[in-house]
Amino acid sequence: RRKKKRPVRVYMDGCFDMMHYGHCNALRQARALGDELVVGVVSDAEIIANKGPPVTPLHERMIMVSAVKWVDEVIPDAPYAITEEFMKRLFTEYNIDYIIHGDDPCLLPDGTDAYALAKKAGRYKQIKRTEGVSSTDIVGRMLLCVRERSVSDTHNRSSLQRQFSHGKSQKFEDGVSGITRVSEFLPTSRRIVQFSNGKGPGPDARIVYIDGAFDLFHAGHVEVCFRLLTIPVDLQILRIARGLGDFLLVGIHTDQTVSEHRGAHRPIMNLHERSLSVLACRYVDEVIIGAPWEVSKDMITTFNISLVVHGTIAENKDIEKGTSNPYVIPTSMGVFQLLESPLEITTSTIIKRIVSNHEAY
Ligand code: CTP
Repeated sequence: RRKKKRPVRVYMDGCFDMMHYGHCNALRQARALGDELVVGVVSDAEIIANKGPPVTPLHERMIMVSAVKWVDEVIPDAPYAITEEFMKRLFTEYNIDYIIHGDDPCLLPDGTDAYALAKKAGRYKQIKRTEGVSSTDIVGRMLLCVRERSVSDTHNRSSLQRQFSHGKSQKFEDGVSGITRVSEFLPTSRRIVQFSNGKGPGPDARIVYIDGAFDLFHAGHVEVCFRLLTIPVDLQILRIARGLGDFLLVGIHTDQTVSEHRGAHRPIMNLHERSLSVLACRYVDEVIIGAPWEVSKDMITTFNISLVVHGTIAENKDIEKGTSNPYVIPTSMGVFQLLESPLEITTSTIIKRIVSNHEAY
């Protein structure tokens, strides 16, 4: 009798601060090098020691990484560099075959390679870094957004700048000049195929539809509320929505629709970028790349939608702004349901965090 082959287990580590689809694409490629992907999320203390304070604390970074569909296991508080001791633990305790990182050099403060030991042990593999996106670039777009919103908002801007100038490019040294909001990412059809699971709903599937901007920022009234506020909330809403059926279809509004409803400085991420981020989420089955603001009867029948849902947080804001209710038709058809947004992180938490970071560094 043939012995069952042991799955190949690969390990990728990272900070995954201000998580973006470049990180997701790294995780996708890593997973493709084996059968099971274990991800080490670097501890706050290790990030502080090696590249300056992260914007998102470990538990939020853990939520983000765990929601990516190519991730099988997550190890919290991973070290920044692969030490002899940690490598031994990876091999014995976690049965890791290969350690993986992007093809960008990852140097420690003393100039040595963080993966030198793994390379020497012949257990290192490399993936291609995704061009056109980085946390630094996203912060650049945010700075521009904060500037557009309020010229007097120097406190928020400098606190953002400070957090992202450590060990990074000198891009922000002379203020926000030279930063553009134009994305350098070139979306291709192949990338979308790679991110998609390519499966449609089964014949009797209960299809749930949820729409939104799925951008980085949350509500317009919050001064500095990065995706650390919104994405974990978005993720929870997506998880709840998926739990109400068998197939979750996510409608992503066009850049134009988002600007019309949230202001000229939005969205921060363009339609393709937002589509990839949402597609990388394990609760999502399919996306509509450019969904209309109003859910029409045609859409409901074409996509065979059983239930249209929406979170309470965005709903309140839309009503406040006095825009039209996009869910009149699903409501009249009796297929609309409002979901209580599970807000575990509040605006004041974020403001406190920014202020305490500001004082500490
Ligand atoms: N990564 C990637 N493409 C990007 C950004 C990151 O492939 N555009 C990869 C890194 O090479 C690494 C993993 O994602 O293997 C985790 O990255 P992290 O430690 O968060 O790396 P950074 O390089 O700091 O990412 P960023 O500059 O965007 O903050």
